[in-house]
Amino acid sequence: MATLKSSAVFWDEKARENAQWYISTYGPYAGRSESDFWASGERIWSDLKRQIGYRPARRDVVVEVGCGIGRLTRAIATEVQTVHAFDISPEMIRRARRNGPANAKFHVTRGDRLEPMSEGSADLVLAYCVFQHLPNHAVLGAYLREMARVARAGALLAFTTAPRSWRAWLLPAARLKAAVASPLRDRGPRGLHRKEWVGIRPARRQVQALCPIPLAQARLDGDRWLFWGRAPGAAPTAA
Ligand SMILES: C[S@@+](CC[C@H](N)C(=O)[O-])C[C@H]1O[C@@H](n2cnc3c(N)ncnc32)[C@H](O)[C@@H]1O
Repeated sequence: MATLKSSAVFWDEKARENAQWYISTYGPYAGRSESDFWASGERIWSDLKRQIGYRPARRDVVVEVGCGIGRLTRAIATEVQTVHAFDISPEMIRRARRNGPANAKFHVTRGDRLEPMSEGSADLVLAYCVFQHLPNHAVLGAYLREMARVARAGALLAFTTAPRSWRAWLLPAARLKAAVASPLRDRGPRGLHRKEWVGIRPARRQVQALCPIPLAQARLDGDRWLFWGRAPGAAPTAA
């Protein structure tokens, strides 16, 4: 069974093995273009803003859950006052700080909390391609409550999930193969059968039930789902 502790160990290991590939499996495992990787962050950020109807203001505070090495953080930081970016992996955070913009504050989280963010302090709380890796639904519920807690009145929450696919049926075979195969022969990604990677695949109605605020939803490529909603109460108007 995966736990938050084993997740932190797994993601530290993956940050050292090939951080960019585990963050975005769309590119090649070896010889990936750095500039394509960072450009993908800008593209995703631009699509997300459009889909959820978020218009950044210079004074905005954004919280990003599961920031990895800061692919999206970089893009977000150019448009707002501060990004508080969290990750469970100290190694991902160490690397994110290396590339990090001055107005990004990086935090290691225990995996279901957004400390030191105070209640009602963020204008957008975002988790992109993170929740499919959580160890269980209780952690998802805890994060959704945390996201709602740190959101200001009228702020947006947005996150993605992934569905259970036919690949799940092949996992026992993949585990067996990994157990007998020599790691030295294996030049590609390792450990995609591990529970820390495979994580949870909640049904959309389970996601809605776990979230304290009502959510809109839209299908993304790769059969993933984007959920978003507004914290209750009116957003404060500019002075
Ligand atoms: C697929 S990567 C996506 C990174 C980033 N959101 C992006 O799209 O560039 C998933 C990230 O979530 C982090 N992660 C996994 N479980 C987490 C948890 N419980 N809390 C915070 N971060 C977590 C991993 O360390 C990893 O950096």
